[in-house]
Amino acid sequence: MITFQDVTKVYPNGVEGLKDINLHIGEGEFVSIIGLSGAGKSTLLRSINRLNDISSGEILIEGDSITVANSKKLRKMRRKIGMIFQGFNLVGTSTVQTNVIVGRLAYYPTFKSILGLFTKPDYELVNDALERVNLLEKLHTRADQLSGGQQQRVAIARALVQQPTIMLADEPVASLDPITTDRIMKDLKRISVDLKLTIVTSLHSVDLAREYSTRIIGLSGGKVVFDGTPAEATDKKLGEIYGEEYLKLSQGEAEE
Ligand SMILES: Nc1ncnc2c1ncn2[C@@H]1O[C@H](COP(=O)(O)OP(=O)(O)OP(=O)(O)O)[C@@H](O)[C@H]1O
Ligand SMILES: [Mg+2]
Repeated sequence: MITFQDVTKVYPNGVEGLKDINLHIGEGEFVSIIGLSGAGKSTLLRSINRLNDISSGEILIEGDSITVANSKKLRKMRRKIGMIFQGFNLVGTSTVQTNVIVGRLAYYPTFKSILGLFTKPDYELVNDALERVNLLEKLHTRADQLSGGQQQRVAIARALVQQPTIMLADEPVASLDPITTDRIMKDLKRISVDLKLTIVTSLHSVDLAREYSTRIIGLSGGKVVFDGTPAEATDKKLGEIYGEEYLKLSQGEAEE
């Protein structure tokens, strides 16, 4: 599904965001990326849909290189890759429905003059996506009137109407309370199973990574320093890699 071949990313200021990454992530895997701040988690996620370019190596999506894709091909490949963020990135003054249907723009030629051109099947996809995150009753509510957890579920729905095969999530629960966090993680898990979605998410909490993922990848200084199952990601093992301090910080909810 996702293959990294000798991927290195050097930022213009010389910082090595990723170093010699070789990974294969298969269909339906739920992968959590853990590591200290600055380890390269966001860089790795953003390189999958080429939100940032890599410096060398290649990234393949379903066998197709996204690294060398031209703009037309890139656009097409990005449709299949949904993404959600810590800050939700919704338009507060717009309704839930409008925020979600924006995900369909990936299928239309230009951003402009599109509103109003959506078809009935588009609106049906919106309803279906909102049902999957239990938020259909908020269809006509303004996004800024929702709680943080509800907003993140709108963002998930917006990604789902792209009908993606891969969902990227950059610290999707870092700004949410523990109970809401659990709900969002459960939603993601259920959706990944129901839709056979491959999920790659960065998380600050090791406990969450262990609870919900099928695989945990640990980064440090842009390198993969751990790659294994939740059962293999013991406190002892992660303590050896990151030091005990890290485990304390990442216990339970996010640190901030
Ligand atoms: N646009 C950029 N320009 C220069 N350096 C960058 C840029 N973005 C990230 N970096 C650097 O690359 C390294 C990896 O950053 P990245 O944002 O991927 O880390 P992260 O693991 O997501 O951290 P956090 O947990 O704080 O979100 C860091 O040293 C960071 O300072
Ligand atoms: Mg980050």
